[in-house]
Amino acid sequence: MTDGWISGILRWIGGRRAWLGVAPARQDLSRAVHPGGDPGVVFASRGLSKIYRVGEIDVVALRSVDLEIREGEFIVLLGPSGSGKSTLLNILGGLDAPTSGEARFRDHNLVGASEQLLTQYRREHVGFVFQFYNLIPSLTVRENVALVTEIADHPMQPEAALQLVGLEQRLDHFPSQLSGGEQQRVAIARAIAKRPDVLLCDEPTGALDYRTGIVVLAAIARINQQLGTTAVVITHNAAIAAMADRVVHLADGTIARISVNAARQAPEEIVW
Ligand SMILES: Nc1ncnc2c1ncn2[C@@H]1O[C@H](COP(=O)(O)OP(=O)(O)OP(=O)(O)O)[C@@H](O)[C@H]1O
Ligand SMILES: [Mg+2]
Repeated sequence: MTDGWISGILRWIGGRRAWLGVAPARQDLSRAVHPGGDPGVVFASRGLSKIYRVGEIDVVALRSVDLEIREGEFIVLLGPSGSGKSTLLNILGGLDAPTSGEARFRDHNLVGASEQLLTQYRREHVGFVFQFYNLIPSLTVRENVALVTEIADHPMQPEAALQLVGLEQRLDHFPSQLSGGEQQRVAIARAIAKRPDVLLCDEPTGALDYRTGIVVLAAIARINQQLGTTAVVITHNAAIAAMADRVVHLADGTIARISVNAARQAPEEIVW
């Protein structure tokens, strides 16, 4: 009874810290908080479920998903439309919350984390790439990347990030002067310029033709290999799976199977 009363007060104070002018302590998300945790695991989900309630109807997007992703891995998430790929990626990236289960980044539980912690997590540790590039049309290539590097703690120079995706010659061009694949590479440079631990890509080649898709995938593979950034890439295209260390096959909100590639194929060798 007393405990409940005290924790109620503490929650109330916690919720009003900003109002009181006491900012909650900034957490170091880069280190494990539990000494017993496996330092090699970057993401772990246990019993992760997501149910969207639309009116009277429950749509089950994820059903008790257990998954571990290790530091530096290149993971492809494969599965038919509606199988839960984006839902899983968004939960790992702190953009969405599950209905039940655990989702951990290193040893930090993302479920139930404060909005402040999730914002810090997304800002410092996660790079997102989506099917559509979401570049700002009135800013140059360099400025689009600089928008992110200006608020990051230990960013790369925009020029260095753009060099990694092979666009160092196009720094002062505007998005409208670039092809779709080049715009996507700018989006990738923007995502990695803050040196995130994980790069989460939701159908990065979905709007691109075959050759352009290869160049974009090669940029992601290079970042994964040269910077050690863990990469999780969603695709409908089974051929892309050959690039990955492991392929997680989702079906109807569950992991149907996980296949391991003994050797990764270079994007340039992939034919689809
Ligand atoms: N905001 C939402 N409200 C209701 N249902 C949703 C919502 N978002 C996703 N869903 C449902 O959850 C299920 C999984 O959706 P999700 O977007 O994760 O699939 P996906 O595998 O990424 O599909 P796609 O390949 O078409 O992008 C689908 O049945 C979808 O209709
Ligand atoms: Mg999707």
